[in-house]
Amino acid sequence: MGRVTGKVAIVTGAASGMGKADVQLLATEGAKVVVADMNEPDGKAVAQAIGENAVFMHLNVTDEENWKSVIAATVKTFGQLDILVNNAGIIALGNILDTTLESWRLVNSVNSDGVFLGCKHAIPEMAKSGGGSIINMSSVAAIHGQSFVSAYTASKGAVRALTKNVAMYCKEQKNGIRCNSVHPDGVKTPMVVKVAMGKETATQEDLDEIGKFGNMCEPEDIANLVLFLASEESRFINGAEMLIDNASTITPPVGL
Ligand SMILES: NC(=O)c1ccc[n+]([C@@H]2O[C@H](COP(=O)([O-])OP(=O)(O)OC[C@H]3O[C@@H](n4cnc5c(N)ncnc54)[C@H](O)[C@@H]3O)[C@@H](O)[C@H]2O)c1
Repeated sequence: MGRVTGKVAIVTGAASGMGKADVQLLATEGAKVVVADMNEPDGKAVAQAIGENAVFMHLNVTDEENWKSVIAATVKTFGQLDILVNNAGIIALGNILDTTLESWRLVNSVNSDGVFLGCKHAIPEMAKSGGGSIINMSSVAAIHGQSFVSAYTASKGAVRALTKNVAMYCKEQKNGIRCNSVHPDGVKTPMVVKVAMGKETATQEDLDEIGKFGNMCEPEDIANLVLFLASEESRFINGAEMLIDNASTITPPVGL
């Protein structure tokens, strides 16, 4: 028996980086997984490599109709929905003065609207199977702020707060659904290659290079936490913000 055997999961942004590691580990531990992403070639390759327990579905997380169709197709394909990992995200460089309204809206539409839509449309379906687990990917940016990514920081703050709102709502409804947020610091993925090196696609050498920055973990380190939150092992963890940052958010006490 795997740790999530018999469960069905949708992971957004699963064509790359952390989402890809999430679907691989969830499938290894017995789940049936939907690789949901806008990037069809890479998403299909991820699903194909996993095999019969994975299927790729095109999803733009900002599109409400697309969410409805993906959730309906998930239930049609695998029979139910138990786990939603709202992982898809984008980042744009810019402090509070540099950030344009256009950039603010774009980042918040994917990172914040996308998580809102995912929670809103997954909850009724998860409730039908007696409960489930929603895992929202936030960031350490939501904890201590990051001056160089203003829109991103705000969007991840929205994810952190919405997670607690969803957890409270589901507890009141007694629908068996838990909702938690995950707050990584640096993870070796194409997103960081783009920010740090300005490259749209990342080679293994690029990923190795950003690994030298310090305090950078592997996508699999995040997937291990996602698996725990997805499984029944975390059944009493609800509305929590799970830091996975090697203590980077701890401010030294004043005077030390
Ligand atoms: N890498 C880090 O250091 C880090 C740190 C903290 C939080 N995060 C968060 O983790 C999540 C995953 O990031 P990653 O580093 O793996 O990035 P990534 O760029 O490797 O992967 C992001 C994926 O999201 C998909 N995506 C983008 N917009 C989408 C949309 N509108 N609809 C559906 N899919 C879309 C992309 O196609 C891509 O496959 C993001 O929410 C990110 O903000 C990353």
